Amino acid sequence: MSEPIVQVRNLTKRFGSFTAVDGVSFEIRKGEILGLLGPNGAGKTTTIQMLLGLITPTDGDITMFGLPFDRHREEILGRVNFSSTYVSMPQALTVEENLWVVARLYGLDRIASRIDDVVKRFEMEEFRAKVTRKLSSGQMTRLSLAKAFLTEPQVLFLDEPTASLDPDIADKTRSLIKEIRRTAGLTVLYTSHNMREMEEMSDRIIFLQRGRIVAEGTAEVIKARYGETDLEEVFLKLARDPSPGASRP
Ligand SMILES: Nc1ncnc2c1ncn2[C@@H]1O[C@H](COP(=O)(O)OP(=O)(O)OP(=O)(O)O)[C@@H](O)[C@H]1O
Ligand SMILES: [Mg+2]
Repeated sequence: MSEPIVQVRNLTKRFGSFTAVDGVSFEIRKGEILGLLGPNGAGKTTTIQMLLGLITPTDGDITMFGLPFDRHREEILGRVNFSSTYVSMPQALTVEENLWVVARLYGLDRIASRIDDVVKRFEMEEFRAKVTRKLSSGQMTRLSLAKAFLTEPQVLFLDEPTASLDPDIADKTRSLIKEIRRTAGLTVLYTSHNMREMEEMSDRIIFLQRGRIVAEGTAEVIKARYGETDLEEVFLKLARDPSPGASRP
C-alpha cells in the first residue's frame, strides 16, 4: 500500500460549548480518494477548514506529507488546494484576473498557458472575461475548480465540488479528478450529498455524524455491514439513528 499523505489524529473543534468535530482520526494514502459523508452539520466542512489551516483545531494533530501541519503550514499549503461551492473570490475581478492572482500567489511559472489549460478543461471560454460578481453559481463553481487545478496540487480538498454543476460538467469534473489521480497520483478528500457520486468516486468512505466517525470502509463494506444494497439507504439509517454509535455493528 502507498504511504499516507494526510494523517489526522483525534481532530477536535469546539465552538464555545458546541463540539463540531469530536476526536476524528483517519488517513488518506497517496492516490486515494476518500469520501467524507454525513448529514448537514456533521462537521465535514469544519474538518476541511482545519486541514486547510483556515480554522485552528481545539485539539488533535494533522500531518501532511509526513510534516506536522502547525510547523510546516506554508510548505504544506503550497502543495495543496481546495474547491468549494461557497468559496469567495474578489468579486470585482474578472475570472481570468482571479486565476492570475492565484497563480502569482503560488509562484507558478508559464501562467498564461496554465490558465488557458484550466479554462479549456472547465469550458470557461465564454465567461473568462466576465466580472466574477456576475457569474452564475455553476460558473462560480467552475472558477473555483479551475483555481484548485491550476496549481497542480498533490492533495485536493473538494467540498461539494459538483453541487451546482450541470450533469455534463459534473461528469467531466469527476473524470478529470480520476484522470489526474491516475496520471499524477493526486490524493483527494471529497464531500458530496449525491450518493451515486460518492460511490463512484470514493475508494473509501468515512461517515461523520455529529462530529464523530460512525462508519468507515469501502461503499461495499459499509452497505454489507448495514444490510443494504444502496448507500442512500445506509445514509438514511445512520442519519435517522437518534444515538450514533449505539447501533454500530
Ligand atoms: N464558526 C462557527 N461557529 C459556531 N458553530 C459553527 C461554526 N462553523 C460551523 N459551526 C457548526 O458546526 C457544525 C458543523 O458544521 P459543518 O459546516 O462542518 O457541517 P457540514 O458537515 O459541512 O454540513 P453541510 O452538509 O451542511 O455542509 C454545525 O452545527 C455548524 O453550525
Ligand atoms: Mg459543509
